[in-house]
Amino acid sequence: MSLTADTDATRGLRIRNVGKTYRIEGRPLPVLQNIHLDIGPGEFVGIVGASGCGKSTLLRLIIGLEADYEGEIALGGDPIGGPSRERGIVFQDHRLFPWLTVTDNIALGLEGLAAAEVRERIAENIELVGLQGFENAYPHQLSGGMAQRAAIARALAMRPQILVLDEPLGALDSLTRVRLQNELFRIGRQSRMTMVLVTHDVEEAVYRSDKVVVMEPRPGRIKATIPVHLDHPRQRGSAEFVNLRERVYEALQY
Ligand SMILES: Nc1ncnc2c1ncn2[C@@H]1O[C@H](COP(=O)(O)OP(=O)(O)O)[C@@H](O)[C@H]1O
Ligand SMILES: [Mg+2]
Repeated sequence: MSLTADTDATRGLRIRNVGKTYRIEGRPLPVLQNIHLDIGPGEFVGIVGASGCGKSTLLRLIIGLEADYEGEIALGGDPIGGPSRERGIVFQDHRLFPWLTVTDNIALGLEGLAAAEVRERIAENIELVGLQGFENAYPHQLSGGMAQRAAIARALAMRPQILVLDEPLGALDSLTRVRLQNELFRIGRQSRMTMVLVTHDVEEAVYRSDKVVVMEPRPGRIKATIPVHLDHPRQRGSAEFVNLRERVYEALQY
């Protein structure tokens, strides 16, 4: 399997000169400015940056949750005008519906598919995130980590072209986190699903990503885009790895 992502911008995600301004009590608050980014099909992109620099806002724009922005965002050449099953998101919090079971929460994103297909996707993804036995549990019966795993299963079951993850594993215990990180990464590579991961973990970002985007705040901008051309599995102790990690840390100092 080739690990080189196809970076043909017309097929991937194209972000051009994007800006976003919120209004707080009538006063403009510029949150994103002049964002340029190309993400090829199957690429894994890590985004790091201080709290408040607009990482979550950028993900919301990519997913189509905010229609009001400047510039251009397109996936496969089609401008993004609203939410779609082809673009999935996992938020920091699970956002499951409390009155639905794990199964029904996942099924909600699969409306319109044949019943057998829905059952298959639910079973496959529940197994993937290790929630067997909790298919009929309600969110309040799950630990925070388990609920987050259900949210990941819900997003993956839609088989999106692109999956954006907003610090999705921060609340999980470290063993579960490592396991899910590995699984998510494997799924991304196998399915050639494009993934954009916002994380505080610089080491993890360099370990996984085809490129690491470093953002800076007020207003949120891209400070550096650092390509990581190292084969997998990567050697965290290698000179090249350490060098790249230091470049990301350096870009984070402002
Ligand atoms: N709906 C909103 N209305 C007004 N301001 C917002 C809204 N969402 C985010 N912001 C502001 O935008 C800035 C960037 O927020 P966010 O994208 O959440 O940053 P990050 O995810 O990098 O921490 C912050 O100053 C935040 O207060
Ligand atoms: Mg955020």
